[in-house]
Amino acid sequence: MAALPSPRTLDPHQAPSLRWGILGTGWIAERFTASLRRHTTQRIQAVGSRTKESADRFAAAAGARAAYGSYEALVADPEVDIVYVATPHNLHHAHALLAIEAGNHVLVEKPLAVSAAEGSEIAAAATEAGVFCMEALWTLFLPKYDVLRHLLDDLRLDTVLADLGERFAPDHRIFRADLAGGPLYDLATYPLSIAMWALGGPPQRVTASGTPAANGVNGQLAMTLGYADTAVAQLHSTILGATPTTAAFSAPECTIAVDGPFYQPGGFTVTWASGQSLRYDEPAGAHLAGLHFQAADVARRIVAGEIESPIRPLADSVALLEVMDAIREQVGIPLPGTPS
Ligand SMILES: NC(=O)c1ccc[n+]([C@@H]2O[C@H](COP(=O)([O-])OP(=O)(O)OC[C@H]3O[C@@H](n4cnc5c(N)ncnc54)[C@H](OP(=O)(O)O)[C@@H]3O)[C@@H](O)[C@H]2O)c1
Repeated sequence: MAALPSPRTLDPHQAPSLRWGILGTGWIAERFTASLRRHTTQRIQAVGSRTKESADRFAAAAGARAAYGSYEALVADPEVDIVYVATPHNLHHAHALLAIEAGNHVLVEKPLAVSAAEGSEIAAAATEAGVFCMEALWTLFLPKYDVLRHLLDDLRLDTVLADLGERFAPDHRIFRADLAGGPLYDLATYPLSIAMWALGGPPQRVTASGTPAANGVNGQLAMTLGYADTAVAQLHSTILGATPTTAAFSAPECTIAVDGPFYQPGGFTVTWASGQSLRYDEPAGAHLAGLHFQAADVARRIVAGEIESPIRPLADSVALLEVMDAIREQVGIPLPGTPS
């Protein structure tokens, strides 16, 4: 290969402009709105929070026209085209259904829900209502991942390796069992999703083991996905410390080594069996440099009358949750209830 393919990702600035309603005013909502404002023509129309004070503060910073002290008021706003659900994992189900039942399109933070049963209910409700629905798996919308897709389509992989370990402040919600804490939903989403995406779908076998964090939530997970054609994904995720956060895809012809953090904008190296190697680079950057690509894709699809994105169809989100169900059962992580 003389050169790597170029990304086919369309210019996010050229996507039609939707009016977004932001449900929840936490860490990711702040970055999502900042990324949209910096890199697209999407409009932050309204914000809904459990408190009017938080909605007002967020609306002022994000340039939103309306601020509501309840999620119900947000989803009822006729000026909102699409609701972005940015609440803790075990509230995605309730809040996605709230938005869908009010007739809104919806982009739900990852993972779509906390079980395959919940995810399937969201998918069915969106299909029945005829509204667009997607899990916000932003990684797959990055230009880097389009180039990877192009390369992977011509390979038969044997092995995927990926890890995602991060340090958090002791008071972070990731250490709270009532908010579905532990690495599974926050971090393992990424290695599991890219492995399934690269290997062509759900695995035939899932094996997992884990160790608890000091306060009792799961602390780290070692996970293996096995495929009938003998391909294997070896994955790891932890909240006990930081890890390299790299990924590798290996086939007889070549190995693709993705720089850490593999799930954010950045680069990778392809090395062929001959020893030749080629490098892909894009400006590295965290959420602000990448969350907008998914939003631009969503806007294009909604204006085109589509109700899913082929880059992250709902069936893939539910398949991920089936694997997470298996991991939870094997490791003994209780199914989180819904917080008040
Ligand atoms: N795509 C990514 O890279 C990425 C990165 C981080 C997180 N996430 C996902 O985004 C979701 C939110 O994560 P986050 O880090 O933004 O969390 P966060 O900072 O804790 O924000 C969550 C927000 O949810 C609302 N909320 C409603 N009920 C709540 C309850 N019982 N307890 C706490 N908050 C409640 C709150 O907003 P109000 O007070 O305004 O109601 C809160 O600010 C998670 O599902 C996570 O997986 C994605």
